[in-house]
Amino acid sequence: MDALQAKVTLDKDYTIGKVDKRIYGSFVEHLGRCVYGGIYEPGHPQADAQGFRKDVLELVKELRVPIVRYPGGNFVSGYRWEDGVGPRENRPRRLETAWKSIETNAVGLNEFCDWAKMAGSEVMMAVNLGTRGIAEACDLLEYCNHPSGSALSDLRRSHGWAEPHRIKTWCLGNEMDGPWQMGHKTPAEYGRLAAETARAMRMIDSEIELVSCGSSNPNMPTQPEWEAITLSETYDVVDFISMHQYFSNEADDTPDFLAQTLSMDGFIRSVAATCDYVKAKKRSKKTLNISFDEWNVWFHSRQQDNQITERTPWSLAPHLLEDIYTFEDALLVGGLLITLLTHADRVKMACMAQLVNVIAPIMTAEGGAAWRQTIYWPLLHASLYGRGTALQLAVSSPKYDSKTYTDVPYLHAAAVENDEGGVTVFALNRSLSHPLELACVLRGYEDYRVAEQIELAGADLKAVNTEHSQPVAPQKAGNAKVENGVLHTLLPAASWNVIRLEKGTK
Ligand code: AHR
Repeated sequence: MDALQAKVTLDKDYTIGKVDKRIYGSFVEHLGRCVYGGIYEPGHPQADAQGFRKDVLELVKELRVPIVRYPGGNFVSGYRWEDGVGPRENRPRRLETAWKSIETNAVGLNEFCDWAKMAGSEVMMAVNLGTRGIAEACDLLEYCNHPSGSALSDLRRSHGWAEPHRIKTWCLGNEMDGPWQMGHKTPAEYGRLAAETARAMRMIDSEIELVSCGSSNPNMPTQPEWEAITLSETYDVVDFISMHQYFSNEADDTPDFLAQTLSMDGFIRSVAATCDYVKAKKRSKKTLNISFDEWNVWFHSRQQDNQITERTPWSLAPHLLEDIYTFEDALLVGGLLITLLTHADRVKMACMAQLVNVIAPIMTAEGGAAWRQTIYWPLLHASLYGRGTALQLAVSSPKYDSKTYTDVPYLHAAAVENDEGGVTVFALNRSLSHPLELACVLRGYEDYRVAEQIELAGADLKAVNTEHSQPVAPQKAGNAKVENGVLHTLLPAASWNVIRLEKGTK
């Protein structure tokens, strides 16, 4: 079969910006089996003294997750953080309305902060601006971050956490534009509340970073008006605007599905443009960055979820949002990571939603194993090799039209120079039928050689990884070589590729 031909030029001097490692963040919500039966399963053979699963923790550590958003999500908009602190035996069981479950509060913020420390991750804490307001957000901040000598910091100390958690990053609510959200708001209502909460929180701790809620997804009828109105209140007192987006192949149209990176790209451009509009209106010198703090593929579990919540509402840790990911999902996730890298100058945080069991790269069986879903692999590769400075590529690739998108380049690529001087090229070949011959001109890296080539390829598009079999796993490949300052390689049809280059003599 004839290969497609694509050409890329990368130049050491043409950079997009520094990659903030926090774009490889994740998300743990009190939802389904993410916490209970996910990171935490007392009684499991792998559980530590606190009840956290060591096998799950090892997989999380392998991913080098820099930051984890917590405790929601929709969950946070009805959450009383006080329920989850103090002696376990006194913690209330609550009706958790976002996911129609029972919340036992066996895990609360102190335990979670301990877990995050073990995982090597920072915590990104969300405050409840649905059913609660400024006072409760301030109380939570005082409890978490104030060293001692005040009622709530001393309460934390009396609970066994003498040192403050020093949580730097805080989300001002979650998806507050969504009618499904407890206490959802108009943009004017949210803008005022978020701005006043931000001001009050900064009075307690001036070191914190704050995230203002953006639209829940690009299809919200109020996007981008929501951003324009809310930011006109919050712009000066926050550091980020949030973005959320989920992707689906419900229509079972893989070429169209793999083109959905264009939708993420367009959404980022639209939110950045709206931030810049508010900046211009305010004659501000500050540029607002983006926290893409929920993104992933999500559709496989929807029918099952409706049945669970209808037939067995108010259960403990139900099997909700347990998408089993296919090989083609992993390809799209690779493409989405490339898209985040191409906006490294603006997207400074991002959280794959979520981390364990719930639309997650890691799955667990109760009392049994923990394993890597297909989407684990591109996230791992990007997290390990995509840190440093993102390079601006000139890409010339043949294109296709899909049902929703036109001019979709078969080749989707990004490159990062890491801090040790190595360069990683990430490349997705979206063609389902043709390999792609890539010629990549290396300006400023002419004396580099291929150190490693990894590919995720060759599997059935619908192949999945389970507890017992993991057919979707990366392989070492060996066809890439640098000749006269040009990297040549053949990317298999439907493949995710990682080519690591190092300065060398060969
Ligand atoms: O990640 C699952 C849910 O998706 C989150 O709770 C919510 O914020 C979003 O709608």
